[in-house]
Amino acid sequence: MKVLVTGGAGFIGSHTCVELLNSGYEIVVADNYSNSKPEALKRIKEITHKDFRFYECDIRDRTAVDAIFDENDICAVIHFAGLKAVGESVAKPLWYYSHNLTSTFTLCESMKAHGVDNLIFSSSATVYGNPASVPVREDFPVGPTTNPYGETKLMQERILRDMQKAGDINTVIILRYFNPIGAHESGLIGEDPNGIPNNLLPFVSQVAVGKHPYVRVFGNDYNTPDGTGVRDYIHVVDLAKAHVAAVRRALDSEGIQYYNIGTGVGYSVLDVIHAYEKATGKTIPYRICDRRPGDIDSVYSDPSLAVEKLGWRAEYGIERMCIDADRWQTMNPQGYGD
Ligand code: NAD
Ligand code: WQD
Repeated sequence: MKVLVTGGAGFIGSHTCVELLNSGYEIVVADNYSNSKPEALKRIKEITHKDFRFYECDIRDRTAVDAIFDENDICAVIHFAGLKAVGESVAKPLWYYSHNLTSTFTLCESMKAHGVDNLIFSSSATVYGNPASVPVREDFPVGPTTNPYGETKLMQERILRDMQKAGDINTVIILRYFNPIGAHESGLIGEDPNGIPNNLLPFVSQVAVGKHPYVRVFGNDYNTPDGTGVRDYIHVVDLAKAHVAAVRRALDSEGIQYYNIGTGVGYSVLDVIHAYEKATGKTIPYRICDRRPGDIDSVYSDPSLAVEKLGWRAEYGIERMCIDADRWQTMNPQGYGD
């Protein structure tokens, strides 16, 4: 019995493959390398000293996905594959709706045809839109979302809810990630953004190694203690371990379940910059700039349901997230290379 990991060469997928293999699961990975490199898979093998089967394919290709289920005894699927850049989704909404929804349709049709009953889906805190209060619990209202990417996540959640209700799929676990950062402690795998990073931590790491002169802090007039945006940053290895816990839970339960995956602690942009400086001894110059359109004041999770039902909780704090991100950046200044 194997776990299929779609998008397993990506940032969160690669760390999850490591944790699954280290926990004794056999895995099959599918990825089209649209936002990742084969080197990531080599590094997973280097870290774990374990091998696995890989399919270079697009999850929207039904024939290719059918072949994976025909050729392997899959008990559960973790579905990471998708497009995730918020700004790009605003510029190319049709591309995002089409890509993200079609891959989930194709995967689910093939799972149904092959009687595969357990799905863990990568969702996001973005489905809560601008929450009325923090910390955010799973029973808070979802939507309206603030961009097409977030809308695709909410639509996929609703499609999976209806399929589960209709009996098309037995168990669906929706994990709503907050802000994943950091890297594996080996420094061998990490986040490898294309071009200039949009997200805070990869940008801070690139400033730390001199790729950019300073961090642009997007606004200091938010309704937060220091005026900069507050988020719930979670170490990607903790997030990966939440997937192992979710697979275990899926194999032992039924229905649709939603879990916030965060630490429950909010840090401001300035907190993150100062934590990075403290953790690494490097100076991070910054400048206060205008707000970034669409950003909100404060979002952090109440992760207590995941603690109770998945038996999982985040172990690493912000300092460790910064140390591991910095090691990855320093050891791999060009990411995985070309
Ligand atoms: P990523 O881009 O690093 O990984 C996604 C992987 O999927 C890549 O390897 C890419 O090549 C692959 N892929 C994309 N479309 C595909 C397709 N049609 N067929 C096959 N492979 C395909 O992104 P990530 O940060 O690891 O995110 C993984 C998932 O988690 C995504 O669904 C994302 O929306 C979700 N998520 C990410 C974050 C975050 O901040 N990183 C937060 C919340 C949710
Ligand atoms: C964090 C904070 C910025 C960059 C995004 C997606 C979300 C999810 C995670 C997938 C904010 C500030 C940022 C910079 C800054 N992804 N910032 N200077 O926006 O919370 O979430 O990634 O599901 O859907 O929207 O993350 O890292 O971009 O920003 O001041 O150069 O850092 O304003 O307050 P965000 P982020």
